[in-house]
Amino acid sequence: MCGIVGYTGKRQAVQVLLNALSSLEYRGYDSAGISVFEQDTIFTVKTKGRLQNLADRLKAGHIPASSCGIGHTRWATHGEPSDVNAHPHATAKLSLVHNGIIENYQALKNSLAVKGYTFLSQTDSEVAACLIDSLYEGDPIEAIRQAQQQIEGAYSFTILFKHHPGEIYATRCSSPLIVAAGEGEYFVASDIPAILPYTRKYALLKEKEIVKVTPDGIVIYEGETAHEPVYQTANWTVEQAQKNGYEHFMRKEIYEQPQALKNTVHPRIADGLPAFEAQDNIPDGFWKRFSRISIVACGTAMHAGMVGRNLIERFARIPVDCDIASEFRYRDPILTKDTLVILISQSGETADTLAALRLAKERGVTTLAIVNVAGSSISREADYVIHTYAGPEIAVASTKAYSVQLSILYLVAFKLAFAQNQLCADEVRKLTGGLLHAIDQTPRALFLDEEIKGYIRRYETLKDLFFLGRGLDYALSMEGSLKLKEISYIHCEAYAAGELKHGTISLITDHVPVVAVATQQALLPKMVSNIKEVCSRGAQVLLICKEGASIDPEIYDHCLRLPDLEDCFMPLVGVIVLQLIAYHTAVLRKCDVDKPRNLAKSVTVE
Ligand code: F6R
Repeated sequence: MCGIVGYTGKRQAVQVLLNALSSLEYRGYDSAGISVFEQDTIFTVKTKGRLQNLADRLKAGHIPASSCGIGHTRWATHGEPSDVNAHPHATAKLSLVHNGIIENYQALKNSLAVKGYTFLSQTDSEVAACLIDSLYEGDPIEAIRQAQQQIEGAYSFTILFKHHPGEIYATRCSSPLIVAAGEGEYFVASDIPAILPYTRKYALLKEKEIVKVTPDGIVIYEGETAHEPVYQTANWTVEQAQKNGYEHFMRKEIYEQPQALKNTVHPRIADGLPAFEAQDNIPDGFWKRFSRISIVACGTAMHAGMVGRNLIERFARIPVDCDIASEFRYRDPILTKDTLVILISQSGETADTLAALRLAKERGVTTLAIVNVAGSSISREADYVIHTYAGPEIAVASTKAYSVQLSILYLVAFKLAFAQNQLCADEVRKLTGGLLHAIDQTPRALFLDEEIKGYIRRYETLKDLFFLGRGLDYALSMEGSLKLKEISYIHCEAYAAGELKHGTISLITDHVPVVAVATQQALLPKMVSNIKEVCSRGAQVLLICKEGASIDPEIYDHCLRLPDLEDCFMPLVGVIVLQLIAYHTAVLRKCDVDKPRNLAKSVTVE
């Protein structure tokens, strides 16, 4: 949450900063601001609302011809979204942008007030700016180092010091930050998409490293030593991080799923069996070691984990817990030596998931992360990592990241089943073949796009909706419900279909819309009974089932038919339909699909 960028080089800094911030806006869009050097001073413009407001304000006023500056796009934590709480925060000596939360900001604020500092905003970030200002005596690195000793919490800072024109200083602790090098120009950014139009050469900053960025290069200060960054090349392209003709990133990312699935799964199959040795450096013996599994994640990633729990228990017969990361941490989980903790995260920066990982490591259990963003904190800190190859996911609502997480969980379940002698090689080969076939069938779910668009016209003014499902369809319903409420602002709930009659059915009255996910052949008779229960209370049912399922048309208003796959693979096609329902409903209701209100893509605060 919050996007940070810094630039020094030969170009017009304002333009570069605005451009880079537009790629980081998914991290928050409550306000935006920039500071650039102009002659012997620092020029700052910031404004509440989207980046476009900032661009308009700059256009209407003055655009300094500067080649060095910093920028910020905010997801508000301390203090409402407003001009004054927007970053950068300026003091007499510096201008600073911050991503993270400073936990002891009140104590720091009190002691700075005693020294005569006054505060314009309600933010913890302004306190950090004043603290560094109070410690600065000519050496930015020393001031930042001393501030680090006093600050508790998570931060990445990028700072301009008034007496160091052309230079940018930055540091991080538990919040992401990269540096990048072009030809005679250098960058600091929260994430890779910001730098892609200019360079693909980047380096990750380690915890508490301090970096000095000038037009001549980058120096990293670590304790008493200084060194140049060790660069790597981003394998994400500019095209991947752009809309490429699609109206929204979300739609583009929904359509990218068949390819993302292939990219993720194909390199991990050898001789028809799941293989993680070559791609992920996970030795074959690894999978024999565990007799319990704990899956931990947040939001959509947790919903993928729910499917994973079902798959691992079904095929490998290993007991699996699936926890919301923010709950896991505080319930003193039982983690025995033979437990494998699997963390799932698109960004690899989600604060609660990261904290759960650290807790598991403290307890001495083995951790395996399934992460999309290479080099992210979770991917660096976990004992083992499986990277998903979805490419950059820009829309705040996660789509392709979920699908590729599922695909890895299938492979993990099959691998565990084989390693623990629950299934023989031929049985696993058959399942792996089934997975590849399911992936090949995913475009057929996309073919339902127009039909879905047509049907959901009736959802334009909707207030409430219910999703129902059993088994894997229940996990899928949870995801469908999250997606719909997240981007269309319709209140909806997902229920295990058998649970409805224990209370919630009292909410089902005439014309209440229900999306019944009934893709599990084995559970179909039970599911049909539950659909009849809501039908007889007047519900308007949109049914999602297999092509070949024979279901009495009296019990649904409309039916979306999915390719006939083995039950266990239906989530791969089912989720696409649920994503399209959410997408078209949000478009119809004129919601900001890619940037839903109050949200940010990467939740780096607890
Ligand atoms: C919903 C969504 C969120 C994320 C959650 C975890 O569409 O995107 O629920 O899934 O914030 O994020 P990651 O996967 O980055 O840890």
